[in-house]
Amino acid sequence: MKFDTPATSNPIDQLKVVGRPTTRIEGPLKTTGRAPYAYERHDVAPNQAYGHVLGAGIGKGRVVSMETDAARAAPGVIAIVTTLDMAQLPKGKMNTAFLFGGAEIQHYHQAIAVVVAESFEQARDAAGLIRVEYARGEGRFDLTAARPQAKPVDADGKQASAEEADERVGDFEGAFARAEVTLDESYTTPDESHAMMEPHATIAAWDGGKLTIWTSTQMVAWWRRDLAITLGLKPEDVRVDSPYIGGGFGGKLFLRADAVMAALGARAAGRPVKLALARPQVANNTTHRPATIQRIRIGAGRDGRITAIAHESLSGDLPDGQPETAVSQTKLLYAGANRLIAMRLAELDLPEGNSMRAPGEAPGMMALEVAMDEMAERLGLDPVEFRILNDTQVDPSDPSRPFSQRQLIRCLREGAERFGWAQRNASPGRQRNGRWLTGLGMAAGFRNNLVVKSGARVRLGTDGMVTVETDMTDIGTGSYTIIAQTAAEMMGVGLDRVRVRLGDSDFPVSAGSGGQFGGNSSTAGVYAACVKLREAVAQRLGFNAADASFSDGEVRAGNRRVKLEEAAAAQELVAEDRIEFGDLSKRFQQSTFAGHFVEVAVDAFTGEVRVRRMLAVCAAGRILNPISARSQVIGAMTMGVGAALMEELAVDKRHGFFVNHDLAGYEVPVHADIPQQEVVFLDETDPVSSPMKAKGVGELGLCGVGAAVANAIYNATGVRVRDYPVTLDKLL
Ligand code: MOS
Repeated sequence: MKFDTPATSNPIDQLKVVGRPTTRIEGPLKTTGRAPYAYERHDVAPNQAYGHVLGAGIGKGRVVSMETDAARAAPGVIAIVTTLDMAQLPKGKMNTAFLFGGAEIQHYHQAIAVVVAESFEQARDAAGLIRVEYARGEGRFDLTAARPQAKPVDADGKQASAEEADERVGDFEGAFARAEVTLDESYTTPDESHAMMEPHATIAAWDGGKLTIWTSTQMVAWWRRDLAITLGLKPEDVRVDSPYIGGGFGGKLFLRADAVMAALGARAAGRPVKLALARPQVANNTTHRPATIQRIRIGAGRDGRITAIAHESLSGDLPDGQPETAVSQTKLLYAGANRLIAMRLAELDLPEGNSMRAPGEAPGMMALEVAMDEMAERLGLDPVEFRILNDTQVDPSDPSRPFSQRQLIRCLREGAERFGWAQRNASPGRQRNGRWLTGLGMAAGFRNNLVVKSGARVRLGTDGMVTVETDMTDIGTGSYTIIAQTAAEMMGVGLDRVRVRLGDSDFPVSAGSGGQFGGNSSTAGVYAACVKLREAVAQRLGFNAADASFSDGEVRAGNRRVKLEEAAAAQELVAEDRIEFGDLSKRFQQSTFAGHFVEVAVDAFTGEVRVRRMLAVCAAGRILNPISARSQVIGAMTMGVGAALMEELAVDKRHGFFVNHDLAGYEVPVHADIPQQEVVFLDETDPVSSPMKAKGVGELGLCGVGAAVANAIYNATGVRVRDYPVTLDKLL
């Protein structure tokens, strides 16, 4: 089904199941420990051996030799494959770093061997007996030092001349020079780690030349394709199965070493092999969010209207890598006739930088929304009113492109009202209660809404059960449930009549989970397949498909009504389709919006920050399931607190690795750090986004939160910190 005209009324609008607060259909499996995660799938292949991945101990250079005799003689060892045993393996399409093979070391903890043994302990122990001789190379590990060599990159991350790469509208420099009130500040965000609970883990088994991996991935089809490329297989000879995932956050978008090393280990051992990356390898072997240095300039008239806005962002990555697109939101969030957007990318020899938790907008908003707070203060305007004054209903670079929906002003007004914003003291550092300085901060929330083609198969069984099959993943987000709700609504049955099977590459290719495109896109794919199944049901019953309605377990047309299960009583009905998106997202700008409000208390003596209250008011199209959507947003708000106050990979700039590569050293918020969080969804539908009229919401919940926290800290203390995270040493 091609979706290229705005949606009108359709069966989803019945809202008998969709849009209703629904607890997770797979929840009982998870809370009782029966949901099979990758490492725990003892039953999928017999006689599993254990693999352990050895990572390189240098950040840049070559492996000269590897001495494995002692390891091979160690108890329980079945096989060892070293990087010197094979040539450098081809990169998957989505990979920046090479995953294995050859002597070249591109980054610290790059996989250089897999040891397979009878037990996990034996594999790990033997890996420790491998002696590696390196020739250490000269690595570039410091973003600031690499800055002079940084190259301009365009919006797609391609290198180009500054003239081609930079996006200019009007005359930024002229307008900025003439502006009555200006701001020119720089902000930095650090390298960050996904820190998902479940590490990357894979069980691999070969059957002749065919490979199956049971793994933990956000993108089943990408992994199948890239694993085939890397190992020189045909995609149809690779099966990927990933029904349950203990968090991804972008770290499991792209094929990683766990899958490659399990496959190589299994081939060498002649047995299925299971392995998980050790926690330090999650930080240093996989991907991370790259650090940024961002400069923002804003010029406005005394009336508070922005006349000039510029956002320049520098980040680093391995050769052939991508920039952190921290400028994305600044193209679209505020009006202003004269604009400059520029990205610079420096080559670094740190582990691969890539998508993490709302890449682009998450760190970009941490800079832009502090700059807006600073600018409001210079203008003597309330920060909420300053944003409202500069709202735009069209793409500021191309006024012929309206936003499909943009209710930022309502989010801000409603948020201010609910949060008690009027009580804020605009003069910083004036609210004190005992040792605690308190303050309120806010930020706009913004994240673009991407749409991705997505397929599904739907079966109406002889037992009357509706079964959905798609390679869509549920990374803890609630995909199972919203997909079940969609099929139930479309087929006119209760949730108890729907089964959902996900994450298997034998199923139709879906959008997968990423970029907050998964929920809307994958349910739209299920919608498309259900439209086909409804046609098949109508045809079998001799109904005119256009007249048939499906509800309460019945199919009705004219004065006829038949129980749905009778349609398939004799033989199962199967339908498959996918949603494809036309040019609507080019004609309309699709984005999601929020107002984020935060209250903090800062210890006047120690600088310790406590978040006291948080509120997010979100506008993200139809909310398919208010319970799982709220969970997404409170999780994202929690990540925002992490980014504001604690998350930072510490770079060893001599040796090129992330030092705090575990959950003891890499701090994320825990329950005690997170107080009351409130989430409000505006009642809205977006007919341009999909037949579901929904948009992404998960990452929206994060974008802006860090700045709201930093702005609240400023309001509490009068100290403006522009280097994240805002740790207590920066406040004293
Ligand atoms: Mo998200 S960082 O695109 O998984």
